Amino acid sequence: MRFTDKCVVILGGNAGIGLAAATMFAAEGAKLALTGRNRETLAAAAEACSALGLVSDMGDVSQTRAALAEIEQALGGIDVLFVNAGVGGFAPIPDVTEDFWDGIHNVNLRGAFFAIQHALPLMRDGGSIVITGSIGSVLAVPGNVAYAAAKAGLRAMARIVGKELLPRQIRVNMVSPGPTETEIFKRGASEAEIEATRAMLGGVVPLGRMGEAEEVARAVLFLASTEASFINGVDLYVDGGCVELG
Ligand SMILES: NC(=O)c1ccc[n+]([C@@H]2O[C@H](COP(=O)([O-])OP(=O)(O)OC[C@H]3O[C@@H](n4cnc5c(N)ncnc54)[C@H](OP(=O)(O)O)[C@@H]3O)[C@@H](O)[C@H]2O)c1
Repeated sequence: MRFTDKCVVILGGNAGIGLAAATMFAAEGAKLALTGRNRETLAAAAEACSALGLVSDMGDVSQTRAALAEIEQALGGIDVLFVNAGVGGFAPIPDVTEDFWDGIHNVNLRGAFFAIQHALPLMRDGGSIVITGSIGSVLAVPGNVAYAAAKAGLRAMARIVGKELLPRQIRVNMVSPGPTETEIFKRGASEAEIEATRAMLGGVVPLGRMGEAEEVARAVLFLASTEASFINGVDLYVDGGCVELG
């Protein structure tokens, strides 16, 4: 029960890693607010976690601001902010359009930064921010240029946010997943394509398989908790060894 009565906000808490984390935070006593775009999955997640669920697109800063205002009304303040919302997309360099680039960066980098900026006045001193990065930020994976650049930008941003928040004792850490079993790589794909992607991705992981959302979420809760009270500014790879042993 590391989060009894702690106010935890998960931006992107209705699916995959965010939902796994929401379930675990709720089980450990947190008062939760979740955001997402999909009304149905958000309502289901909010009910399952006894959470406040707010439809909000992190790619639209005005929606983020509105959601945070509701969160302030409902929770009063934020002890843990988990900035997890993210979109994927692969395209080789000649196929990267401005719309494709902006679609990824608006959510994964721009949206994440302004969400943190607007959440800071609500954050309690001594709190914790965890941001979902990706091992894509440090690997040269063909076709991943837009996503990798956004996640690498997020890493750079996290360091500076962490530095500026030192006077408030708010720790800022990242969790960077390797290939993880969530909808992010399945959307719009056939069963055969999903199986082929799973085999390909699992094959490049030194542990020989994809990770589960819960395995990433456990690292998020650790970094968010006082167990990690002396851990600040790290990017924790939860990737079965991809970066260090690949
Ligand atoms: N799965 C992997 O292999 C992997 C690897 C490295 C990093 N990551 C990162 O992990 C994070 C979570 O992804 P996941 O794998 O759990 O994928 P997922 O199952 O697709 O979940 C993505 C979450 O982000 C939310 N989201 C996406 N765009 C949003 C937006 N514009 N505004 C608000 N919420 C938004 C989604 O809500 P809606 O469904 O309502 O849009 C959902 O809750 C992402 O940042 C992703 O880049 C994943």
